[in-house]
Amino acid sequence: MVEGAPVGGFQVVVVGSANVDLEVRVPRWPGPGESVIASTSERFPGGKGANQAAAAAKAGGARTALISAWGSDADAALLEAFLRQAGVDTSAVRTVDCPTGMAIVMVDPEGANVVTVVTGANGRVELGDGDLELIAQSRVVLAQLEVPVPVVAQAAAAARAAGTIFVLNAAPTAVLPPELLKNVDVLVVSQHGARELAAQHFGMYSTDDPSLLRALQRVVPSVVMTRGVEGSVVAEAGQDPEVVRVLPVEPVDHTGAGDTFDGVLAARLAKGATLSEAARAATAAASISLTRPGAGPSIPDAREVALALATGQVPPAG
Ligand code: RIB
Repeated sequence: MVEGAPVGGFQVVVVGSANVDLEVRVPRWPGPGESVIASTSERFPGGKGANQAAAAAKAGGARTALISAWGSDADAALLEAFLRQAGVDTSAVRTVDCPTGMAIVMVDPEGANVVTVVTGANGRVELGDGDLELIAQSRVVLAQLEVPVPVVAQAAAAARAAGTIFVLNAAPTAVLPPELLKNVDVLVVSQHGARELAAQHFGMYSTDDPSLLRALQRVVPSVVMTRGVEGSVVAEAGQDPEVVRVLPVEPVDHTGAGDTFDGVLAARLAKGATLSEAARAATAAASISLTRPGAGPSIPDAREVALALATGQVPPAG
């Protein structure tokens, strides 16, 4: 791996959401019209953008800035403290006249989750001249889809114009304009998301992963298909797809594991790693995240990721 100095101020710029998660642990999913009793409820820092930025900085060791928006409320203060502690620069986060985004997260005994997001201030994320400059001067821009899609498209176009690597985590599922996809260098997408995108862009209705990957690679050269606790498939132009498996773990909570993956992937790419090397480090970090409750608090530090990579095991907490 080649360690790259940042071209400008930051190695990674994340454009994305910041939420406070109200996470409840349920014995099973309630059906429509049904109530279940949760065993615990906790508030955690979260939001795909904030989680990914924290992962890039803390677990990936990259100089990272977040472009986002939050309200002037207690949730914003919680998020700001979390991001600062993770080493993320928050000077490009706007304070807007709207409540900070929130998510209601239900987690079952196996650690699987169901998430409902209230967009709030995330719907007011926009890119000013200073933000476009940040993007142009960074090595990697990472975005997801909890902020307006036109803003993500603008970030992708700015990254392409500057020669900055643009990584899109296409979650949650949304309709994506073809011109956005054309400016993506690395697409990280779940199996479900890949099916949606293949249907949207190619009228293709397939459940066959290799066919889906080949279809998406007609537009985006590098695609990482995530498959939950099974790991991911890394597909790069001209190479056979590579399966990267999650380390042996007993998952406690899946929330934030995908974001940890994305943030570390971006950080490693910014430092000159190949996509395959970056995916291995990202998987090690995500494996650790799976063993811890909450989104933001589950993100490991760089020492833990190095240990997991070296041993193939998730290190004990602490
Ligand atoms: O990916 C997990 C995140 O999705 C949670 O932190 C929640 O806020 C939602 O944005």
